[in-house]
Amino acid sequence: MIAETKLPAACLIGWPAAHSRSPLIHQYWLKTLGIEGGYNIEAVPPEGFAEFVLHLDAHGFVGANVTRPHKERALALSKPDARARAVGAANTLWYEAGELRSTNTDIEGFVGNLDASAPGWDAATDALVLGAGGASRAVVFGLIERGIKRVHLANRTIERARALADQFGAGVFPVALDAVGDLLPRAGLLVNTTSLGMHGQPGLEIDVGLLPSHAVVTDLVYVPLQTPLLAAARARGLKTADGLGMLLHQAVRGFELWFGQRPTVTPELRALVEADLTRA
Ligand code: ATR
Repeated sequence: MIAETKLPAACLIGWPAAHSRSPLIHQYWLKTLGIEGGYNIEAVPPEGFAEFVLHLDAHGFVGANVTRPHKERALALSKPDARARAVGAANTLWYEAGELRSTNTDIEGFVGNLDASAPGWDAATDALVLGAGGASRAVVFGLIERGIKRVHLANRTIERARALADQFGAGVFPVALDAVGDLLPRAGLLVNTTSLGMHGQPGLEIDVGLLPSHAVVTDLVYVPLQTPLLAAARARGLKTADGLGMLLHQAVRGFELWFGQRPTVTPELRALVEADLTRA
């Protein structure tokens, strides 16, 4: 329908095409900015992904978001920027001079959310990042890019933290989870990238009372919106940034690349997505 009328449209490619908030976010921006365009969900199995992505324009799309399990393939099938290469996964595709490009917007989602929710957060000299999976890679890259001097990386499987530290070089220090308590007093920023605290998972065992009073705490988990970690940090009067903020901020760049206008993360958009999360 959209392809026939030639309105610019983007899509989210996943398998299975899980329930995603991306259509809600991009359709809100299209509407509020008065842009005629579309954003669809496309369920594409792994065996059909290469054909779909390599002919994205023929399928009627000016670009796409990519989610599990396609992010690594998306990187390999396009011309990635430095961010996508550093993370090893692409979540956003667009055309530049006829060429299929890719980036990873989790980095600017993470940093943009902190800038909006806890300005001054980057005065921290030491950041403590919990977890060493894909999300952590984006976080560590963002922290280094922003000039944070020491990034301490704690993970249950210490080898994964070591591998990530090796990739990023001098300013990243792998630590065992049981050493976290010793690091908390000097952590100006605490980031949870693990799935702990997520609905149905055990909570993180972190004593936020050990953090300095100027510390900022952020959690990538957004179901629930207020994780036990964020609740404890707020109860102590620390500044926080939540996972929903990162989700909203990571969508900004894709929209700008596809539709030519930089959108804003408004309280109204946040309320819209928050209501959808509560319904789910
Ligand atoms: P993502 O791409 O979202 O980062 P991931 O690559 O599966 O997902 O990483 C999940 C992170 O949560 C990892 O750091 C994982 O620790 P391991 O590397 O040791 O697996 C962490 N994690 C998940 N469940 C955990 C648990 N019960 N205790 C401690 N860490 C956990």
